[in-house]
Amino acid sequence: MTIAPVQRTASPAWTDARLIMALEEVVETELNRHLKVAKEWMPHEFVPWSQGQDFDGVLGGVAWEKDQSKVTPLGRIALVVNLLTEDNLPSYHHEIATMFGREGAWGTWVHRWTAEEGRHGIAIRDYLLTTRAVDPTELERARMTHMAEGFESDNSHSMLHSVAYVAFQELATRISHRNTGHFSGDPLCDQLLAKIANDENLHMVFYRNLLKAALEIAPDQAMRAVADVVIDFRMPGHGMPGFERSAAQLAIGGVYNLRIHHDDVLQPVLRHLKVMEIRGLGPEGQRAQDELGMFLAGLDAQASKFDERQAALLARRAAAAARA
Ligand SMILES: [Fe+2]
Ligand SMILES: [Fe+2]
Repeated sequence: MTIAPVQRTASPAWTDARLIMALEEVVETELNRHLKVAKEWMPHEFVPWSQGQDFDGVLGGVAWEKDQSKVTPLGRIALVVNLLTEDNLPSYHHEIATMFGREGAWGTWVHRWTAEEGRHGIAIRDYLLTTRAVDPTELERARMTHMAEGFESDNSHSMLHSVAYVAFQELATRISHRNTGHFSGDPLCDQLLAKIANDENLHMVFYRNLLKAALEIAPDQAMRAVADVVIDFRMPGHGMPGFERSAAQLAIGGVYNLRIHHDDVLQPVLRHLKVMEIRGLGPEGQRAQDELGMFLAGLDAQASKFDERQAALLARRAAAAARA
């Protein structure tokens, strides 16, 4: 892919409504491509139902205890964060339906995406409850608290910011699911999360291709959106109970941290779109591109400092474990 120098015209700034209309054809093309490559899969086939048993309470079964599951402590934390993030789907649906609309190709995408996302929460919850990987009462209370808060996008003021955000966020979610599977300690969990991560990847490709088209038709505004979103990026689950603490543990454990965010999420999308190589921008687009470049260099340096702290902490833990 090459990105030609931008042909600048004297057209007025793009409004959200004009952009949504201008991108409708791209959405239709990308939707059709998505429908061709997205293969049907059955969440119930990934859940080891034979490991399940009644809980205490109404059915008088066995109470939950920590050692009933082989899932690692890090895996538990990550699975809860990932599930609560998926659980807030009604709020995400509301945000994108309000932004992109419910008609035409945009509407078909919004509903299809929602249906695909819906199976992620279903499958992870079925897995967690069947295998007793997490405390079901705590999980339910956390879900109630988190969903009752709702989710409000940082980017609801701008459709370009919304598209840019989801392009990065879908990849962030993919990487988070994939790494959670790797660290879960249960090959069945890894298999399920790999399947979910594959869905997230296809979502990322859809939005990334849309962002590519936006960079071509409204380069200055799209560059501003990319810069703002990358600089202010927050994971969608940031409002859940105990998020900061969980995020710190996931960072040290290697599920999701600054290095992963920079190397495996931001850079692949930016490189694919050749964002830093786009030339011929107007003053606003140029300023945004410069800010983005400076931010990325700073983030890489911060990530390197994190790498050192992580290595030192893991070495101390390993030494303490050896002594014990
Ligand atoms: Fe998902
Ligand atoms: Fe997704």
